[in-house]
Amino acid sequence: MTINSLTPEYSSDIAAMEQQLTQLANQMFSELPNCDGSRLGLVENAATPAGIPADLPKALHQFATPNVSSFAPPQSLASFQSVPVPQPFDIPADADLQKLVAAQSVAGVTPQSLSSARAPIPSEFNLPQEAQIQKLITPRRLPLDVSNLSSPSSSFYFLNEVKTFEQPQSLYTPQIHHSAFDIHAVRRDFPILNEHVNGHQLVWFDNAATTQKPQVVIDRISYFYEHENSNIHRAAHELAARSTDAYEKARQTVAKFINAPSPDNIIFVRGTTEAINLIAKSWGLQNIKAGDEIVITWLEHHANIVPWQQLCEVTGAVLRVTPVDDSGQVLLDEYQKLLNAKTKLVSFTQVSNALGTITPAHEMIVLAHRVGAKVLLDAAQSVSHISANVQSLDCDWLVFSGHKIFAPTGIGVVYGKSDLLEATQPWQGGGNMIEDVTFEHTRYQPAPAKFEAGTGNIADAVGLGAALDYVQKIGIQNIAIYEHDLLAYAMEALRRIDGLTLIGTAKEKTSVLSFVLKGYTTFEVGEALNKVGIAVRSGHHCAQPILRRFGLEATVRPSLAFYNTHDEVDHLVSTVRKIKSGRIF
Ligand code: ALA
Repeated sequence: MTINSLTPEYSSDIAAMEQQLTQLANQMFSELPNCDGSRLGLVENAATPAGIPADLPKALHQFATPNVSSFAPPQSLASFQSVPVPQPFDIPADADLQKLVAAQSVAGVTPQSLSSARAPIPSEFNLPQEAQIQKLITPRRLPLDVSNLSSPSSSFYFLNEVKTFEQPQSLYTPQIHHSAFDIHAVRRDFPILNEHVNGHQLVWFDNAATTQKPQVVIDRISYFYEHENSNIHRAAHELAARSTDAYEKARQTVAKFINAPSPDNIIFVRGTTEAINLIAKSWGLQNIKAGDEIVITWLEHHANIVPWQQLCEVTGAVLRVTPVDDSGQVLLDEYQKLLNAKTKLVSFTQVSNALGTITPAHEMIVLAHRVGAKVLLDAAQSVSHISANVQSLDCDWLVFSGHKIFAPTGIGVVYGKSDLLEATQPWQGGGNMIEDVTFEHTRYQPAPAKFEAGTGNIADAVGLGAALDYVQKIGIQNIAIYEHDLLAYAMEALRRIDGLTLIGTAKEKTSVLSFVLKGYTTFEVGEALNKVGIAVRSGHHCAQPILRRFGLEATVRPSLAFYNTHDEVDHLVSTVRKIKSGRIF
């Protein structure tokens, strides 16, 4: 039990009483019938439920008890199946990409750029039989060049280690039973991966939309509501201390995870969208003037376009967009040409959600700083795949969403450099963010509190801390290497399918496998994959400009996480082949 969140004048008295109170309470509850005190958080080790071996870790209890509900088809899916199929713009059966471009008159897209966007088709691609897929895609482990992994200036800068620092103690003891990367152990940590969909084991390839949650995160949130739930920073009672400690510990975990100098650099928000809006509507409104320029890239998610458009409308600033090449990589020389003394802000993604491109973030940040611009790095799609080390990247802000990194929805992060956070006025006013209020004047708390008006999403911040602890334990470098191998394997297997065009073939990419399949709408492909339990996103992925850059309105987007396997990729590839040959429909 910790009390370090109580006000200082109470702390020493309560500290002296703490041990005695705990002993008395344990004694009292142990004497009550049917109560071992564990549900009050006073006993660390709760009794094991009946029928489960006493030494079985809590995270594995689900595997020891029949879970009937996990095999029942959810109601919502039954209705999903009967929804009339919409007809989004997609590739008609006989159209080729050149005709599509002409038909759509998409600005900035040339037939030449599209034809070179097609994945080169290897000669073996003509091998027609299902049985030959295995032969096609062996060896299953494609070589990965890791020769430069530790050099900060290398293109693998994102694999660098992050520093660590001390964190406060917590009442909660996480149940993680492995440390090295072991795909079987990792998969056992995610109960939802045992779900069945349409009679098939779920294959979750929609990780760019949201990730699944490990048992430690689920348990941590339950523990919070069972033992710690209270508002934070607001009372001198035990649960306020517990919840405040848990919340602030999560802030420390986030800081450690992205190598921020201090937890004070970390602001909790709802997610990446709110994070970018916070910067646009606080720092942006306070610093951007008519004639200033804001530079983004063609790769951006709508959340990193619309707030800047809104800011430009209000201030008279100009939005400039960095083009990408036909593989979907940022054109650095074009980017450099856009930068000048008027550039006040550069905001771009570390990984494209639609294509998976890993942008040259470090170089782009250095170049932006040379002209005096601030840089916001959108790490929503990168943070679960590669290192997002704010000190080596030297970004001014970094933002991400918890739900993309195995944490709950509704919680996200703004990292900001201390001087910027200090100089920026808050965007929302209310409780929790003030030091003193009179009718004449309000004094604000320092950051991060001044940016966290109102009661935040306390439990899910705590869940985010648990998720980051979990990822840290497995190791982002291990994850990056495993996923790189899996992505290379999947890209190679998909590109051999007749009529399939990969969209986004940058040399440096992670997780995302966007494609279109000639003769089928993206919705049809997504629906057919769902029939065999494979979940992918089909559509514009909230990134319409980059898809239109390739002459498209939609793609099928499988996206990988570290719990996905080569067998699951094989299942995807063989199913797409079946779709292509008309055997699923
Ligand atoms: N941004 C999320 C995606 O890429 C929703 O699917």
